[in-house]
Amino acid sequence: MAFARIAELPQHVGQSVTVRGWVTHLRSSGKVAFIVMRDGTGILQSVVVKSQVTPEVWDLFGTLTQEACIAVTGEVKADARQPGGHELGLANLELFGASPIDYPIQPKEHGIDHLLDNRHFWLRTPRQVAIARIRSEVEQSIHDFFYERDFLRVDTPILTAAIGERSGLFATEYFEEGTAFLAQTGQLYGEAAAAAFGKIYTFGPTFRAEKSKTRRHLTEFWMMEPEVAFADSNDNMQLQEDLLVYVVQRVLERKGAEFKELERDVTKLENVKAPFPRIDYNDAIATLATKGSDTKWGDDLGAEDESLLVADYDRPIFIMNYPKEAKAFYMKENPADPRTVLCNDCLAPEGFGEIIGGSQREDDHDKILHRLREEKLPEAAYDWYLALRKYGTFPHSGFGLGIERTVAWICGTPHIRECIAFPRMMHRLKP
Ligand code: 4AD
Ligand code: MG
Repeated sequence: MAFARIAELPQHVGQSVTVRGWVTHLRSSGKVAFIVMRDGTGILQSVVVKSQVTPEVWDLFGTLTQEACIAVTGEVKADARQPGGHELGLANLELFGASPIDYPIQPKEHGIDHLLDNRHFWLRTPRQVAIARIRSEVEQSIHDFFYERDFLRVDTPILTAAIGERSGLFATEYFEEGTAFLAQTGQLYGEAAAAAFGKIYTFGPTFRAEKSKTRRHLTEFWMMEPEVAFADSNDNMQLQEDLLVYVVQRVLERKGAEFKELERDVTKLENVKAPFPRIDYNDAIATLATKGSDTKWGDDLGAEDESLLVADYDRPIFIMNYPKEAKAFYMKENPADPRTVLCNDCLAPEGFGEIIGGSQREDDHDKILHRLREEKLPEAAYDWYLALRKYGTFPHSGFGLGIERTVAWICGTPHIRECIAFPRMMHRLKP
């Protein structure tokens, strides 16, 4: 007997196949019954006619419950009225795994805490499947984008000495070496790799022990960080723009069914075309003042400011050249205004906020040492990083794109916790 996944059924019309999966809906008139099941690739309805199956099969149907794992065998018919476009005339039914009736996720509204506590089951529901498929397409399109452009993928360490961004570090004991910290970024290693390989990107989990409980913060999130030798800040924004246009186009082309499931207004994504506006930080502050924000020159922009700024546009925007004190120590001083650095944030439209942070890196040894000291960072942990500025220093730029925030924007989901299979947040380590 041929096994088939539901997505493969178009190739099996008129044939008898076995499909395995989990029950989502059951209904019976006493003489005819219907089983709707899913297998992760689609949904399928089987028709069970009492007079055409054995009494054992009919009785087994009577014991089924939501989420029981079953195998159905029968002839595949094309039927445009059915979800998925097919129906199976059931001849045989087998049960792999019964599912007691107290299955935690019922076809009704559940509160978010209940759903998160049952994330291992919540993942099975159509909306979550659609988000996961879009995430996977986003990730694959990123890999393809960089592969086509001859970037080398470099995997950077997760256990590190005390280096990274400003926000909190997770610590763990590390043999005789003292404390190790979970990486907040792969960037500093990416910079070393860029001098070895020219154009690289990293793709991996990053960790921030921030006590933020917003809809855009996770304690563990995935970040993709390219680093390019001899690229300046303008080249860096160009690369971000090219990447985002490519990714959005690719997901639009391939994930129509998932966008439909999410009821996503894809016309908003169709606007994601080059060029993206490039707005100087000074102008952003002036605009914010006219919109009633009290953010002053020198501050980093908050989520509300970002929403105000992006409201005037239908595509992502760049805010560039922030004041030094608002940004990380490694950003290159702006020769045109040394109070600022050559950097950019990329803000997604529709109020989704910062999805990318990028910059040209400070390549002057003494300047970056000065900034390290100003920020009171542990100099010894950065000795190898400083040495990159001593032996053959080079102009270079890069950025970090947050995968969950990008997926949240593309899917139109307000909270990024749905955009990773098992979210880690301040109060959530399980499941
Ligand atoms: O702006 P960030 O902190 O930049 C860096 O880490 C740089 N080292 C990147 C680089 O230049 N190579 O983070 C980059 C992106 C943010 O724009 C955001 O999308 C995401 O990472 N991000 C988070 N996503 C989820 N939860 C958090 N707590 C995040 N913090 C940052
Ligand atoms: Mg940032």
